[in-house]
Amino acid sequence: MRVGILGFGNMGSAFGRCLKEAIVYDINEEKKKLALSLGLGVANDLEFLKGESELILVAVKPKDKGVLENFKDYQGVIVSIMAGVSIKEIEKLCGRKKIVRFMPNINVLVGEALIGYSKNELVDENLLEEVLKTFKNCGSFVEVREELMDSFTALCGSSPALIFELIDALILAGLREGFDYKTSREIAVQILLGSAKLVKEFEGEVRSLTFKVVSPAGTTAEMLTELERRAFKSSIVEAVRKATQRAKELSKR
Ligand SMILES: NC(=O)c1ccc[n+]([C@@H]2O[C@H](COP(=O)([O-])OP(=O)(O)OC[C@H]3O[C@@H](n4cnc5c(N)ncnc54)[C@H](OP(=O)(O)O)[C@@H]3O)[C@@H](O)[C@H]2O)c1
Repeated sequence: MRVGILGFGNMGSAFGRCLKEAIVYDINEEKKKLALSLGLGVANDLEFLKGESELILVAVKPKDKGVLENFKDYQGVIVSIMAGVSIKEIEKLCGRKKIVRFMPNINVLVGEALIGYSKNELVDENLLEEVLKTFKNCGSFVEVREELMDSFTALCGSSPALIFELIDALILAGLREGFDYKTSREIAVQILLGSAKLVKEFEGEVRSLTFKVVSPAGTTAEMLTELERRAFKSSIVEAVRKATQRAKELSKR
């Protein structure tokens, strides 16, 4: 499908890099120059973007969602990544159109995003398949019911920050133990990558992997006991809950 990207900031440009072919419209001239430098097409106005695109990825901030009022005559598919903006709200702005909602995360920068999606009834299964295929280089997809989108925003949209902090904490731990920064960084990143791969390939409960590492009165038991004392897991569960509550507050605006 011929893709148009509306808004070429952090996310729009990350999608543009993965897609490799797209036409971009942004109100900011610098962003247009960036799109050109990446070998993408640039539209000078919205009308041109609409005319050239079978699908438009709406990647402006939620506060700028009013731009959708210009899409009342658009016949293609609208794919919105705006956090907290429901399909119903999009329909209110631009009328009943074929609408798909995506909730990606920043890992789209390396083509490894997890993208939650929902759609309205005007998008049939064939069209949905075509849309997802168009974005296949951006990451993988999981269907999310609209009512769970705020939770998904917290879990998938915000959690990369949690993982970055975890990696940073492991780096600090490495430094404290006497490794240099480069080595600590390598250790932290490889632990994350290797453990994620192991979990992905292993079919049982994740917890049973933990117990493969624990030996009686050993180092891992000591580490886990300390984490337990500091409420490690419930801190994470509560943090995601808080992020979900914030996503719900923002959706109501
Ligand atoms: N960042 C994330 O991790 C993440 C994750 C999931 C979803 N999202 C969603 O992704 C969307 C984009 O976020 P972002 O961080 O990429 O924002 P961003 O960097 O601010 O990019 C938005 C771009 O759109 C431009 N713009 C504003 N109004 C426009 C209009 N009427 N027509 C064309 N372009 C317009 C902005 O220009 P100006 O800068 O001049 O205003 C800016 O270049 C948001 O809705 C956000 O909820 C983000």
